[in-house]
Amino acid sequence: MKLNSIERAAMNNPIRAAHQHHREAAWFRRLAGGGLAGKHVLEVGCGRGVGAEVILDRLGAAQVSAFDLDETMVELARRRLHGRPVSLSVGDACDIAQPAQSMDAVVDFGIIHHVPDWPQAIAEMARVMRPGGLLLFEEVPRHVLDTWAFRTLTVHPRENRFEADEFAAELSRHGLHGSGQLESHIGGMVFIGAARKS
Ligand SMILES: C[S@@+](CC[C@H](N)C(=O)[O-])C[C@H]1O[C@@H](n2cnc3c(N)ncnc32)[C@H](O)[C@@H]1O
Repeated sequence: MKLNSIERAAMNNPIRAAHQHHREAAWFRRLAGGGLAGKHVLEVGCGRGVGAEVILDRLGAAQVSAFDLDETMVELARRRLHGRPVSLSVGDACDIAQPAQSMDAVVDFGIIHHVPDWPQAIAEMARVMRPGGLLLFEEVPRHVLDTWAFRTLTVHPRENRFEADEFAAELSRHGLHGSGQLESHIGGMVFIGAARKS
């Protein structure tokens, strides 16, 4: 599901970019045990491309493949990431255009809660990861999406959302383990974690 104008403004601004480059990068660096040096990383739902920058510049990846459902976001990412080792495309997390077991790592900066069939998106992320590959995720839980502010100001699928433990259970069903130590941040607005493919 694409963002409405309010959430788009909340995502695409310098404060959010600085937060991703500093705080979120530090969380993911720690969860990844130091970073993703030399890895080929897939970013799902890349938005305007700040996440791909973080994956390259803060986590040390060698190469990023990234996609988003919204072609206008992909165009912004194309401009931001011109000349960087990033391949960009329009695509759907429920049908990822990558071969099975082709990615060293997958990064989700808060997109799976936008996907109506989110278990299918998890199945797809698991499919494209090689054995031993790492998933880093930051997500918004159901009880936050159910607040007045989120219901009134943003557009998200209403049915079938998840709490952190339900998200982790779905990861485990697809062979993505180790997300037992989920962390809650920003006053409980998001949870983060890492899971490795067995
Ligand atoms: C909350 S924004 C986060 C964007 C970016 N990851 C960031 O942190 O700035 C969610 C993004 O997911 C994208 N999106 C929603 N559903 C998607 C899907 N099924 N497949 C791929 N991208 C999707 C939206 O277009 C939007 O860019």
